[in-house]
Amino acid sequence: MSSPPFVVCIPAAGSGSRMDSGIPKQYLPLAGKPVLAHTLSMFDGMESCETIIIATDDKRRLDHLLAEYPLRKDCFIVQGGDVRQKSVANMLAMCTDDEAIVLIHDAARPCILPELILAVVHAVEESGAALLALPVRDTVKATDGRYVTQTLDRNTIRLAQTPQGARAGIFRNAFAEADRDGFTGTDDVALLERLGIPVRVVDGLPSNLKITTPADLFLAEQILLRHGRS
Ligand code: CTP
Ligand code: MG
Repeated sequence: MSSPPFVVCIPAAGSGSRMDSGIPKQYLPLAGKPVLAHTLSMFDGMESCETIIIATDDKRRLDHLLAEYPLRKDCFIVQGGDVRQKSVANMLAMCTDDEAIVLIHDAARPCILPELILAVVHAVEESGAALLALPVRDTVKATDGRYVTQTLDRNTIRLAQTPQGARAGIFRNAFAEADRDGFTGTDDVALLERLGIPVRVVDGLPSNLKITTPADLFLAEQILLRHGRS
């Protein structure tokens, strides 16, 4: 599938507190190389990926990783922020071509597949903004913390994954507005939604998990093996 060119921003400046592992989860070994090296190599291998921007709070560790797993694409490294949204804002500041298609993809999602990335790029090209999101298998309950308040229609619900994408100018403006309003979202396209910008949904896969706890590393290893990537 041919695809328009795109830039990818990889937030990799988190501390991985829920992993509880001494070193941040993006640097933990997974099927022979660090989590982040898997994530980067997936984008680095795609013809239409033109530039890779990485946010880090540990430049020395990242430089070391890039020396061991060099990238072929143009790569820029920016300072991470204390929250993910700030890390992403710092990367978007590098995307000065308003029309460029920008994807944001968590360093901690190493099992992403090129066909999913391309599906998001195409949806951004067609509709302006898009995300990968997982259909829900279980029945979904709203609660007050103790009792069920409602059973939601799971057909209308999706679990947000990454990549999430939009044109650079739209993303930069939405992040600036959020900053002005003191709004913090739990994902990137939430900052577009609050401005009324339509966001297309592309079905994600359970295998595109975000490594969050130690059990996820084991799962991710099985997935990478199955994808033939270890
Ligand atoms: N991230 C970032 N800057 C931050 C926080 C998070 O760049 N200040 C990145 C992480 O490195 C990760 C992605 O955003 O690749 C998704 O965040 P999350 O899974 O929450 O990672 P952490 O914040 O590192 O983990 P935790 O919430 O368990 O501390
Ligand atoms: Mg976090």
